[in-house]
Amino acid sequence: MKTDTVQIPAILGGKVSVTLDHETSNKWPNLSHRDEEAVLQIMRDGNISTHPVIRQLEKAYADFTGQTYALAHNNGTSALLAAFYSIGLQAGDEVLVPSATFWASVLPMTWIGAVPVFCESEKERMGIDPVDMEKKITDKTKAIVVVHLWGLPSKMTEIFAIAEKYNLRIVEDASHAHGATWRGRPCGSLGDVSVFSMQGDKLAPAGEGGVFLCNEYEYYEKAICLGDITRIIELQTPARRFAATSFGIKTRIAPISAAIGLNQLRQLKEHNTIRSKNLLFLSEKLESLGFHTFLPPDHIERVYFEYLIRYDEEKTGLPRDILLQALLKEGCQVALPRYPLLHQQPFFTEGVFSQFLRLPTGEHVPSYGNCSLPFTESANNSLLKLPSFPNQDNGILDQYAEAFEKVIGHASEINEKCNAQ
Ligand SMILES: Cc1ncc(COP(=O)(O)O)c(C=O)c1O
Repeated sequence: MKTDTVQIPAILGGKVSVTLDHETSNKWPNLSHRDEEAVLQIMRDGNISTHPVIRQLEKAYADFTGQTYALAHNNGTSALLAAFYSIGLQAGDEVLVPSATFWASVLPMTWIGAVPVFCESEKERMGIDPVDMEKKITDKTKAIVVVHLWGLPSKMTEIFAIAEKYNLRIVEDASHAHGATWRGRPCGSLGDVSVFSMQGDKLAPAGEGGVFLCNEYEYYEKAICLGDITRIIELQTPARRFAATSFGIKTRIAPISAAIGLNQLRQLKEHNTIRSKNLLFLSEKLESLGFHTFLPPDHIERVYFEYLIRYDEEKTGLPRDILLQALLKEGCQVALPRYPLLHQQPFFTEGVFSQFLRLPTGEHVPSYGNCSLPFTESANNSLLKLPSFPNQDNGILDQYAEAFEKVIGHASEINEKCNAQ
């Protein structure tokens, strides 16, 4: 039994480790006078609907990813709808998707009748599992959704090989991965069509915003026709005849959002460097205590949209709920992962999705009631989410390291106490 009171965990009556202010260290987005000035400029110019800043934002994203075409959207969800529509998905087409992601990576496809087929996540980086994906391919499979979860690029070598073998399109949702690279290639350039969200939590936030990217003119034109009336008028192809109607929705970004998004993209590198420095420091400490912190292999540059760690009860000696309780008592802001698994959600399990699919009579309507992804379900239960520490460290990282060290160092006493209650 350790006697030094400083080292006793708070849950056992010791002092709380994390006393520094979370609000300062976790404040995000990091908006400055430059963002204010960019917004004011739009207001002074007076064109608050179609200001040229939208084109500047698109050019900046095209340059950033090396893609030929970029079309800004009012959010990532509508950019994803455009992505699914642009590759020509038809009612009844199947799309291989991860379950461990935000719903917008998947649900917009149901509005055009495409059927999500949920696949397991792989263990290393928690992206869609290529082995499970290949087992689920049928003659209706047309595409794959790749999400670089939390900023960790997916297993692209295997995914590219499967896409080529079965002639599948890749829809890349890079919403978590602004600035990440895979074998030197930027995330956002790895799909037939790629999308970033610029929602306020993201690494290059605009408030609300999204961008659709591709190299094929055909995809770009379809995305324009779906929801960007100003661009249809400019088309030099027969699609210009839709200028009076578009295809029924309107997805243009607001210039004030575009101005913030552009400015934040310019500061991305600087902002990402701070997060990476902080989280690599913390990861080193946590790895030494037996946690898995998803450090990337050499061919990958990850970014830290979110910081999740995996813990192994056998190594730490503490069940997750007790570990969580003990860390909360230390003043740590730890939580369970924030995305509930999609294949378990009522939209699928209660059959609501079929109202949107509107499959032709006789077409098989999928049932998700029995859909089970044992690995993903158990892996999701072994994750903890920590703050992503986007600002300069004020000493709070040392306090987190100390909190974890104390709790793990007293695992058996904590277990005993909690089990006796
Ligand atoms: C992985 C992922 N894809 C898509 C989206 C949707 O983007 P938006 O909120 O901009 O519609 C989000 C989150 O917001 C996301 O986390």
